[in-house]
Amino acid sequence: MELNDRVVLITGASMGIGAATALAFAEHPVRLALLARSEQRLQTLAAELNARPGVTALPLAADVSDRESVARAVGRTQEAWGAIDILVNNAGVGMSSPIGEIDLILARQLFDINYWGAIHVTEAVLPDMRARRDGLIINISSIIGRRAMPGSGVYCSSKFALNALSESMRVELRPHNIRVVSFYPGVTESEFSRNLLTGGSSVHGQGRMRPTPAAKVGQAIVRAASREPRDAYATLFDRFFVFSAAVAPWLMDWMLAKFYGKRTREN
Ligand SMILES: NC(=O)c1ccc[n+]([C@@H]2O[C@H](COP(=O)([O-])OP(=O)(O)OC[C@H]3O[C@@H](n4cnc5c(N)ncnc54)[C@H](OP(=O)(O)O)[C@@H]3O)[C@@H](O)[C@H]2O)c1
Repeated sequence: MELNDRVVLITGASMGIGAATALAFAEHPVRLALLARSEQRLQTLAAELNARPGVTALPLAADVSDRESVARAVGRTQEAWGAIDILVNNAGVGMSSPIGEIDLILARQLFDINYWGAIHVTEAVLPDMRARRDGLIINISSIIGRRAMPGSGVYCSSKFALNALSESMRVELRPHNIRVVSFYPGVTESEFSRNLLTGGSSVHGQGRMRPTPAAKVGQAIVRAASREPRDAYATLFDRFFVFSAAVAPWLMDWMLAKFYGKRTREN
């Protein structure tokens, strides 16, 4: 897709990968609708973006898990700028959830954000995209939405569910000329591990591996918006991880069992 003069809605834009994606889109003259719950952070980012030539940003305080709140935010964007060209479903939270210790209330909250949140926003933007027979939806999954990690089953399941949704949407929406990209970040520098629903730190490798800067991930997302591949990654390592897990799942089980066993004994 040609990115100049597009209307882009990014969820989870107040920090981390979402904010970095907004800054990367702002290399082009675009209109950016920034959705998240933290109004103050969105306003600060919008002020920074509005100072860039050719860029206009609209802060939208909303909660993706609340369908009405999403409908209001999408409505405000459409009133201001007309139809949305590109949706980046990025809002998401993690949780540490070893089996036998899953907090079911938090697990449902996580699905309300990571999975139902993406459905709420997608359904709100689709009627306009369908009417114009044009649109691009980028769903931010995770490499551990392709190969689940021990101790993070609920989070990984929410990303596997998002991938299934992306797969079915991609084919359903093709006749309407609406394209769907699945983007799989690996460990990224952001607030993610501080914002876990369970608190504490994650056991799936965050903090152990060297994280990719959020700016690099944001740039890769913008590249994916312009090239529209089926699946997109920020680094070669992320691509290799997903490939290895697909061709040698038993080897991955063995490696993870060693790593997880050591981590569990240390904690
Ligand atoms: N960081 C990683 O290592 C990593 C790896 C793979 C995939 N990912 C995925 O990348 C995405 C972005 O994560 P991140 O690393 O940037 O984490 P982050 O720094 O914690 O940012 C998460 C964003 O989601 C927003 N959000 C959370 N709940 C929301 C809700 N109910 N309604 C609206 N917005 C909400 C947060 O804003 P408010 O709190 O202001 O609402 C924030 O802007 C997530 O989907 C995550 O699963 C991250």
